[in-house]
Amino acid sequence: MNDIKVESPSGKLGVMIVGLGGAVSSTFITGTLASRKGLTQPIGSITQLSTLKIGKGDNKREPMLKDVVPLANLNDLVFGGWDIFEENVYLAAKHAEVLKDKDIDLVKEELEAIKPLKGAFDNKFVTRLHGTWTKDCATKWDMVESIRQDIRDFKSENKLDRVVVLWSASTEIYVPMTETHFSLESLEKAMKENSAEIAPSMCYAYAAIAEGVPFINGAPGLTIDMPAIWELADKNKVAICGKDYKTGQTFMKTVLAPALKTRMLGLNGWFSTNILGNRDGEVLDDPDSFKTKEVSKLSVIDTILQPEKHPELYGNIFHKVRINYYPPRKDNKEGWDNIDIFGWMGYPMQIKVDFLCRDSILAAPLCLDLVLFTDLSQRCGLYGIQDWLSFYFKSPMHKLDEQPEHDIFAQDAKMRNTLRRIIGEPVCDYID
Ligand SMILES: NC(=O)c1ccc[n+]([C@@H]2O[C@H](COP(=O)([O-])OP(=O)(O)OC[C@H]3O[C@@H](n4cnc5c(N)ncnc54)[C@H](O)[C@@H]3O)[C@@H](O)[C@H]2O)c1
Repeated sequence: MNDIKVESPSGKLGVMIVGLGGAVSSTFITGTLASRKGLTQPIGSITQLSTLKIGKGDNKREPMLKDVVPLANLNDLVFGGWDIFEENVYLAAKHAEVLKDKDIDLVKEELEAIKPLKGAFDNKFVTRLHGTWTKDCATKWDMVESIRQDIRDFKSENKLDRVVVLWSASTEIYVPMTETHFSLESLEKAMKENSAEIAPSMCYAYAAIAEGVPFINGAPGLTIDMPAIWELADKNKVAICGKDYKTGQTFMKTVLAPALKTRMLGLNGWFSTNILGNRDGEVLDDPDSFKTKEVSKLSVIDTILQPEKHPELYGNIFHKVRINYYPPRKDNKEGWDNIDIFGWMGYPMQIKVDFLCRDSILAAPLCLDLVLFTDLSQRCGLYGIQDWLSFYFKSPMHKLDEQPEHDIFAQDAKMRNTLRRIIGEPVCDYID
């Protein structure tokens, strides 16, 4: 029996992206538009390419996931959003230098028509950028009001049925959680008083949720990861999820750490370093922005290995993460991992990983899946933190008294079982 009622995905879905002109956003939009015209394959997207095992006994089958889960159709997506630079998404994609001109030109006219609204920005939170296309707001509360109006206008101008907001803008400086972020009342008060504890990303999040629009956080900031925003999401029955797309090095970490744990092999140390030359790398070169990313990246290993249960294997791990800004590499990041492990009678071994990846190529399909799945959550009435989408995040959000799940295989199983529940199929118990 299905305990979840799903509204139909009919009508248009607005995808409003904060950081519309960024490398990830422009790559995501270009690939989605080209995919829906049949000009490329949406490689890396679970919603578009994966199957889902359903049924039991003689009724077991494995259809395409999108054929059985009621997701919005790619043809119904309408893109828009905000940036602090004025260029349209065609020019942004060219400048990002992720995709070749021949691939961007496949959907040139559509990309040119997608132009950013003025961004809500405060240079104190992203010190390396000096935006020229920004809102003129006296307080953070004014930012909220202006963003809310943008969402309403976008919805009516494009005759949309639903909207999802995705934060894919630059990583803001580290903002520690304080009393301000603990209740909706104190958050609203701080916004009205233009407090330094309110980052622009929080204004976007507040505005979206106040409008009944789901919010996804692709960056590592505090943004929606606080009780005040959870309170608002519960009050307005809005789905939220985050944070920080799990793309390259952390993806590998959440594959390898469960493998070590499954075999009961020990770990002494894990050193991860990257070189990266895109605008994201430049922003992360600022120690305060890097701190936000570091906190997000470091949380992974402990929760997978459970040192408290296995002190002899994981009780003394040295874990270090570095990101180095190196312009010649642009978006083509190289991530090295040196992993010091030990086996039978304590004998040491090493694993070396050298991942020559492409940041935005890995992130784009995650954006597509997150938009479609978060819209699904909203149509199912699943509100608050969507922990079934932990699969997509480096630092999955969770309530203060809960533990996050980092193991990618456990995350995958949870996601698929949630989808089975949504479509009224029995969850997979791994027995038959
Ligand atoms: N690419 C990946 O693999 C990956 C993985 C995890 C997380 N992320 C995060 O995703 C985000 C986007 O990455 P990217 O490579 O596209 O970066 P990017 O620098 O190319 O794009 C960020 C965009 O955000 C805009 N921006 C900054 N502040 C804004 C504001 N307040 N309002 C509106 N626009 C604003 C910038 O002008 C820029 O166009 C970053 O926070 C990054 O850390 C990326």
